[in-house]
Amino acid sequence: MRVHRAAAIAEVAGPLLIAAIAEVIARRGRCRLGLSGGSTPAGTMRWLAEHLADVDMARLWITWVDERNVPLHHPDSSHRLAAETGLLDRAGMVLPMCFGGELESEKIGFEAGFEVDFDGAIDIALLGVGPDGHIASLFPGHAGLSASGLCVAVPDSPKPPDERLSLTLAVLEAVDVAVLLARGAGKATALSRRDPAMPISRYRPRGDYHWVLDDAAAAALEKR
Ligand code: 6PG
Repeated sequence: MRVHRAAAIAEVAGPLLIAAIAEVIARRGRCRLGLSGGSTPAGTMRWLAEHLADVDMARLWITWVDERNVPLHHPDSSHRLAAETGLLDRAGMVLPMCFGGELESEKIGFEAGFEVDFDGAIDIALLGVGPDGHIASLFPGHAGLSASGLCVAVPDSPKPPDERLSLTLAVLEAVDVAVLLARGAGKATALSRRDPAMPISRYRPRGDYHWVLDDAAAAALEKR
């Protein structure tokens, strides 16, 4: 795992993700990127929208690592958050995560008309982390943390909205690249603890694992 300290998170996370997306596309013909919600990733999603070349965008399938049980265009929707950054506009495929546990395909972009073979697995995860060490919608002490399969319903999220859907830890770990973003000193406790109850402490992605921290999170982490 590599730790990157960045005055501006998007300026470091963006190029990391662009290189990873291009490498996965070169190897697999397309790249399945799983996005998080929350306030931290918006700047990086906007940076990607501004810098990803069309050729890569056409081969980029975008889905989510978790979603809230609200309509796709609701203010709390992670889908809406990504849409507002412009990142969905040119993506080859956008696959919203819908609470019924069904991953519905919403064909947009240049490749309408072919069948979507999407089992929910992702190649790259863009994650945030909560002060309690949660990632996606997997929370400390919650059953979802040990769920098997693709997705787990979370009816009682300690972070509102309470009803969510999340990819499981195993699916989040089966990625080629994981990029975790943390902004603010308040995340340092979660980043520094080796508490097995904390999802971030248990998270061991198979592929490359990057933390991109702003100065406040990095400085607080160094003091631990
Ligand atoms: C969500 C996220 C969640 C988020 C963290 C960090 O839907 O809320 O997927 O895992 O990434 O809670 O959120 P902030 O970036 O707002 O601190």
